[in-house]
Amino acid sequence: MMQGALTFQLPQMSTMAPKIDTLYDFLFWSSCFLMLCTTVAMVALAYKYRASVADPKKEVPYIAHNHLLEWGTTSILGAFFLLVFVWGFVGFHEINTIPEDPYEINVVGQKWFWTIQYANGKTLKNELVIPKGRPVKLIMTSRDVIHSFYVPEFRLKQDVLGGMYTTLWMEATHTGEADIYCTEFCGLDHSNMLGKVRVLEPGEFNAWLSGVEPGKIDLASAGHQLFQKRNCIACHSINGKDRKTGPSLSGLFNKLVTLAGGEQVKADDNYIRQSITNPGGQVVQGYAPVMPTYKGLLNEEEMVALVAYVKSLKE
Ligand code: CUA
Repeated sequence: MMQGALTFQLPQMSTMAPKIDTLYDFLFWSSCFLMLCTTVAMVALAYKYRASVADPKKEVPYIAHNHLLEWGTTSILGAFFLLVFVWGFVGFHEINTIPEDPYEINVVGQKWFWTIQYANGKTLKNELVIPKGRPVKLIMTSRDVIHSFYVPEFRLKQDVLGGMYTTLWMEATHTGEADIYCTEFCGLDHSNMLGKVRVLEPGEFNAWLSGVEPGKIDLASAGHQLFQKRNCIACHSINGKDRKTGPSLSGLFNKLVTLAGGEQVKADDNYIRQSITNPGGQVVQGYAPVMPTYKGLLNEEEMVALVAYVKSLKE
């Protein structure tokens, strides 16, 4: 069968694309089939029970119940909807389960463009370059209103919100170019908030990535500079030994942290970001809530660098 031949004519460039197209094709063709059944039945019944010219007084039979028909259609349609639900849920789960060790790229949306940041400091506008055949995880946020990152060729879409990170993972199956659209109305130039994805062979990608512009430093080093400049070091040790006003940051990333209320949270990107913008919200057990907020003092690109630095601190 020609996948997506009628319903979605764009090339399939990610591992998810053929799966999503198959489900869509199934929905499309089963809708056609049901439409055909309904129309044929409607025409046939209208013909069968038409008013008779020869016998205008002919009675139309009154049928109150038909258990076989009622139970039959209900259970067949019920099973059909259950199948579509389970099928869709399996795909939904796959889209939301990030594979082990993805290649991470940061995306910041704002009116009306995308900024793409790589760990080595490479920064692009409206262009996402990724390797083929490797899971890529986008860690995304917005500087202003809600945007939505959509690549039709990947059949993947994710809202991008201010004040938090959302993620989207993909594995490209073909090299080439694809379009990025913003699909959340975000003001005047929403329809011009466009970009390109370029999928390269892994070797080409590495060569491209290592070509860093002179003067550029990697994200973690940029974050380290901010860490010094903002004097975070005054309250947070980075060696895990000295006890300071605030908790140590070494080896923090992805660890379970116990908060003042006894609740445990995972120190992921969002936790680190929120600890900087709203420190009073998640106070670590045993520490006083004395950290001032840095909300508004760092822009999102700087925040990405600072979070990258904290993530880089090993025990
Ligand atoms: Cu950004 Cu629409």
